[in-house]
Amino acid sequence: MKKIIIILSSIVLLTTNCNSPKEKKTAPSKYVAEAHSYAQPNIAVVKHLTLDIDADFEKEIISGTASYIIENNNASEIILDTKFLVIEKVEADHKETTFTLGKFDKQLGQPLKINITPKTKNITVYYNTTDKTEALQWLNPQQTADKKHPFLFTQGQAILTRTWIPIQDSPQIRVTYDATVKVPSELMAVMSAENPKEKTVDGVYHFKMKQPISPYLIALAIGDVEYKAVGNRTGVYAEKSMLSKVHTEFSDMEKMVIAAEKLYGKYAWDQFDVIVLPPSFPFGGMENPRLTFATPTVIAGDKSLTSLIAHELAHSWSGNLVTNATWEDFWLNEGFTVYFEIRIMEALYGKERAEMLALIGRQDLEDELEGFKDTPNDTKLKLDLKGRNPDDGMNSIAYDKGYLFLRTLEKKVGRTKFDIFLKNYFQTHAFSTMHTEKFIQYLNKNLLEKNNITFNTNEWVYNPGIPNNQVTIVSDKFKKVEQILQKSIENNTVNTTDTKDWTPQEWVHFIRNFPENMEIKHFEMFDKVYDLTNSTNSYISMVWYEQSILHNYRGNNIDPKIEDFLINVGRRWYVSTIFKAYKKSNRIDKALSIYKKSRANYHSVTANTIDQLLEVKN
Ligand code: BES
Ligand code: ZN
Repeated sequence: MKKIIIILSSIVLLTTNCNSPKEKKTAPSKYVAEAHSYAQPNIAVVKHLTLDIDADFEKEIISGTASYIIENNNASEIILDTKFLVIEKVEADHKETTFTLGKFDKQLGQPLKINITPKTKNITVYYNTTDKTEALQWLNPQQTADKKHPFLFTQGQAILTRTWIPIQDSPQIRVTYDATVKVPSELMAVMSAENPKEKTVDGVYHFKMKQPISPYLIALAIGDVEYKAVGNRTGVYAEKSMLSKVHTEFSDMEKMVIAAEKLYGKYAWDQFDVIVLPPSFPFGGMENPRLTFATPTVIAGDKSLTSLIAHELAHSWSGNLVTNATWEDFWLNEGFTVYFEIRIMEALYGKERAEMLALIGRQDLEDELEGFKDTPNDTKLKLDLKGRNPDDGMNSIAYDKGYLFLRTLEKKVGRTKFDIFLKNYFQTHAFSTMHTEKFIQYLNKNLLEKNNITFNTNEWVYNPGIPNNQVTIVSDKFKKVEQILQKSIENNTVNTTDTKDWTPQEWVHFIRNFPENMEIKHFEMFDKVYDLTNSTNSYISMVWYEQSILHNYRGNNIDPKIEDFLINVGRRWYVSTIFKAYKKSNRIDKALSIYKKSRANYHSVTANTIDQLLEVKN
């Protein structure tokens, strides 16, 4: 009898434990609801990842296991995100368990629902990637600088990590990780982790990332690369033929870290390295912790495009340390990073250069606002991306409106107070996530109310367009450029002494401000004197090609140059700017004929954008 009572009461206890509504109410939901992940982290969440994978360059697949230590809140299942993965087997605490793959969604992929018990602490997923993977780009030797060996890199942001690792792919999740990666022995593997400086004999590499990071920051690159240190905790990876150029170009890296630390506190990731990837890399840079991935298009030979390094470094605070909770809060990552980037540039090279950068961003913002004039909701800082690709929100609004907001706030409260506020903000929220409402609360309490200041934060964040109290950014250098442009057009002549000390930023400003009705003869004049069609600065080339297409300038054998550029470079911003110009000037046939040849060289991120732009079905 006694025994029965004990059994009965423990059943009662068990059931109340699992299902008590009281329990549900009191357990705080640490994670906010989100549109781009199937994970239910409030029930069961991954804490540490162990990857054991093999990169097969013949078959172009990654295969192996992803094992997790999980935090289990009495769950009977844990849900991971996957997309285009083959799941072979799943284990819970080292015993095979059952799982289901849910319905496929074009954006989000498939939830992998794994049956566990309330006691389960470990899970292991046996899997491989497929040829549909969106994160990975497998390159043949022809697509690399040295043309001898293949290359592979991953791009996780925003929701692509799930296409190479089954994972809870939400920026709110943070994991530490370790990894064992097997690659062909002539290649080196590097990750967003503690990295090797030399190749191993057997092609097996071990990695450790001891600071918790969001899954979109897990990254891997495999290629015939070498390492060269710049400072104590900074250095570069690149293919052999690029290494010394890259090293010279980025020789200010260590100084940038020092300047950044002085502003907003200690660098939290120990090492800051950059790997320069082949030109198909779809971004200028990607802030993978400890190892920024970068495009070779910033290697200009004169350090003129290194604000990109300042930008990715700045993400070590805004983004990697304090992470946007959802992709609708993306401006918290990028707006803060642009602000911080420009502060680092100012600290190293002075106000004049910083203001030029700020003003280029201001013009980008103006162009973006014009592009969104029929969809004003897309010009809000806080976005609604339900049912949409997070990529839709990854434009100049987050970057440059975000910057303008912070810059306006800085002016209002004064730099000294603003810097103290930001330093505390990063310190207080280190290794955690931030959403817009939480930020506004923190701002009100710690900056505005404290100093008795009123500010139209809500208008900036929740309304479309740009509020009236925006600061005006002024660059005397750019004013001069505008005058010289006007004078040259009026007088039909150029004076090379006017332009002889121009930086690439001044050239970019000059070209982008060609009047809409500028005549072909002026293109001819500028090209004859400055040979802009053959510029070796990728940024100048890009804006020159754009303007040439918009004005139908066809001189100096420019058409094959543009075609070559589009075939070789996969940086999405560059490529889409040029294809947009073709579309705008009704040369869609030309665009399509180039795209036919170039598409195979692009990473999925760039290809998807251009497919949409040119309405190509794939
Ligand atoms: N994190 C971004 C790149 C990114 C954005 C990847 C959205 C995936 C989705 C990176 O920090 C970045 O902003 N790169 C810029 C360079 C920068 C100097 C503005 C780029 O790639 O052009
Ligand atoms: Zn960025």
